[in-house]
Amino acid sequence: MSLPSLATSFLICSLQAFPVSAQNYTWPWQTYKSSSAEPPSLNITKSGPTSPGYLFFDQNGEYAHNYSLFIMSDDNELIWQSGYGDYSAFRTQTFEGKPVLTFFNGVSLAEPYGWGHGIIQILDDSYTSIYNVSLTVDDGNFLTLPELDASQLSSYLDMHESQITAQNTLLVTLYNVTKYDLSAVGGPRDGWVTDSLFYELDIKTNEILFKWSALDHIDQIPLSNVQQFYPVADFGKNQSVPYGYFHINSVDKFADGSYLISSRYYCSIFKISKNGTVEWTLQGQTGGDFTLDDQLSFCYQHDARVRKEIGSTVQISLFDNANSEVIAGVNQTKGVLLTLNTETRKATLDQAYVDPQDAIYAFSQGNTQLLDNGNVIMGYGSTPKIREFSPDGATLMTAQFGPGDGHIFSYRAYRLPWVGRPKSPPSVVACKCENSNSTTVYMSWLGATEHKSWEIFTGDSNSSLILTSHVERTGFETVATIPGQVSLIRVEAQGVGITGGVSNVVSPQSSC
Ligand SMILES: *[C@@H]1O[C@H](CO)[C@@H](O)[C@H](O)[C@H]1NC(C)=O
Ligand SMILES: *[C@@H]1O[C@H](CO)[C@@H](O)[C@H](O)[C@H]1NC(C)=O
Ligand SMILES: *[C@@H]1O[C@H](CO)[C@@H](O)[C@H](O)[C@H]1NC(C)=O
Ligand SMILES: *[C@@H]1O[C@H](CO)[C@@H](O)[C@H](O)[C@H]1NC(C)=O
Ligand SMILES: *[C@@H]1O[C@H](CO)[C@@H](O)[C@H](O)[C@H]1NC(C)=O
Ligand SMILES: *[C@@H]1O[C@H](CO)[C@@H](O)[C@H](O)[C@H]1NC(C)=O
Ligand SMILES: *[C@@H]1O[C@H](CO)[C@@H](O)[C@H](O)[C@H]1NC(C)=O
Ligand SMILES: *[C@@H]1O[C@H](CO)[C@@H](O)[C@H](O)[C@H]1NC(C)=O
Ligand SMILES: *[C@@H]1O[C@H](CO)[C@@H](O)[C@H](O)[C@H]1NC(C)=O
Ligand SMILES: *[C@@H]1O[C@H](CO)[C@@H](O)[C@H](O)[C@H]1NC(C)=O
Repeated sequence: MSLPSLATSFLICSLQAFPVSAQNYTWPWQTYKSSSAEPPSLNITKSGPTSPGYLFFDQNGEYAHNYSLFIMSDDNELIWQSGYGDYSAFRTQTFEGKPVLTFFNGVSLAEPYGWGHGIIQILDDSYTSIYNVSLTVDDGNFLTLPELDASQLSSYLDMHESQITAQNTLLVTLYNVTKYDLSAVGGPRDGWVTDSLFYELDIKTNEILFKWSALDHIDQIPLSNVQQFYPVADFGKNQSVPYGYFHINSVDKFADGSYLISSRYYCSIFKISKNGTVEWTLQGQTGGDFTLDDQLSFCYQHDARVRKEIGSTVQISLFDNANSEVIAGVNQTKGVLLTLNTETRKATLDQAYVDPQDAIYAFSQGNTQLLDNGNVIMGYGSTPKIREFSPDGATLMTAQFGPGDGHIFSYRAYRLPWVGRPKSPPSVVACKCENSNSTTVYMSWLGATEHKSWEIFTGDSNSSLILTSHVERTGFETVATIPGQVSLIRVEAQGVGITGGVSNVVSPQSSC
């Protein structure tokens, strides 16, 4: 992920694990006359019926064109694009019964760190910012890399989690740089680690309702159980290169109020009791407290979610990267649905989601979303693809927004229903076509979803504009040609339940 400040860019360049090749990974984007939005041109392949809803993703990485959040349709049409920012984990959720948009906004550090500091932003359906959830240094004496200017960090929340719970609280992760004895893994006794914390917060007050730290529970999750990742020989020596051993990357809640967390470098998911103790461990290669069936294995995974709890069984979904910066290209990345039986201590694979026609090896990030109809959406993290599967694992759609792996990416991607009611008005640009004695009109309304058609009003003064034309909406930007050379133009978006769909009055430009 790239960074806003020179200091941090320098840091990343000097510590980059892999040299960046000079190749040109630029991906095509779309442009409009009536909007400065420039979303990627999605390469969409469909092989079956897809579910309703729009695609939600961010664009990050060295070759990202517009470094923004996007809502797009399956037919490659833009719905909304944010301004520029270091954003991630963009999606809709429900807060107090109302649909909201949530995302991380801050500074994200590229691998070998792979974490960040920022706020979780919540917008309402008019795209108005309603809450910023944060934890400041005063909430935990947090420490970061010396290369980051801590006085510029208004909040230390990390990008890996921003889940709103059924209780309208927010689950978040946080990375804290601290001293720790690394001799158990052959590192320095006076070493440095990045501790992984998670919190449950009150959204309106930022009040801490629950706090957990991996280092506080190292007796139950010992350092020596960490799987192969960056060698400790290169990390842990000082505060600039803390050993990021746990790497928490998701938090979810069980019905009984305990938590499900995922650790990338333990290749494990853990059940954490309300008193903070580890109730069980599912290790993706050895099983941990469970016996894995022959089909089940995972490692370096992301996005572990509780899907169904029935008696002593729990169904869990996760995104199995099976790849990391040190092991890549061996096992394909897959979506995993598994069931744990906490009585028999058996872990069973229910379904894996892979496309044998298009093997993906995502070395970082990613998520697995279950839709109400049983279909599965996977956002492939460092690989810029979003895929929809049927419940039994057949590929229904692939949407690609960048080349290769690691050049343009989205931390997570979702398919979600959304009704956008933007406060800002539609936008119109008109151009005179001298030769043909006509005027071309370009109309769009960033973020709006419900308009089906446009009315075009023309005239010589603001108060005397009359309805000249009515056209169907075609995608994000609708283009219409009206006869004659007009002096003033206004457009109105038409559709059920629309308010505020009236543009400003503009004069046509002499050419476009
Ligand atoms: C990269 O490729 C794009 C699209 O082919 C082109 O527009 C752009 O100029 C190229 N950039 C460089 C630095 O070569
Ligand atoms: C997208 O990027 C282009 C080129 O840098 C820029 O002109 C345009 O304003 C950007 N759009 C938005 C919405 O930021
Ligand atoms: C677009 O997607 C199709 C199907 O996944 C793939 O074969 C093709 O190479 C992609 N195009 C580009 C430019 O990546
Ligand atoms: C949240 O923070 C963003 C970015 O700094 C700011 O634009 C917005 O106004 C803030 N919203 C609230 C509700 O404070
Ligand atoms: C974060 O780390 C600092 C020292 O590195 C320590 O003083 C502080 O207590 C830690 N915060 C939490 C919440 O663990
Ligand atoms: C920290 O350790 C790294 C790796 O061992 C080394 O390259 C770097 O120079 C050290 N930084 C400081 C400030 O000592
Ligand atoms: C913590 O909670 C677990 C599960 O509810 C329980 O088994 C354990 O005894 C508790 N530990 C302490 C120290 O209270
Ligand atoms: C790769 O797959 C094999 C066979 O399922 C499994 O034993 C191994 O643990 C996997 N490795 C990783 C890194 O996921
Ligand atoms: C241009 O078109 C308008 C509207 O159709 C018409 O009234 C006008 O006479 C035309 N002018 C010319 C020069 O053809
Ligand atoms: C007409 O309306 C536009 C905005 O819609 C405004 O900028 C312009 O000043 C108005 N013109 C007059 C003469 O009122």
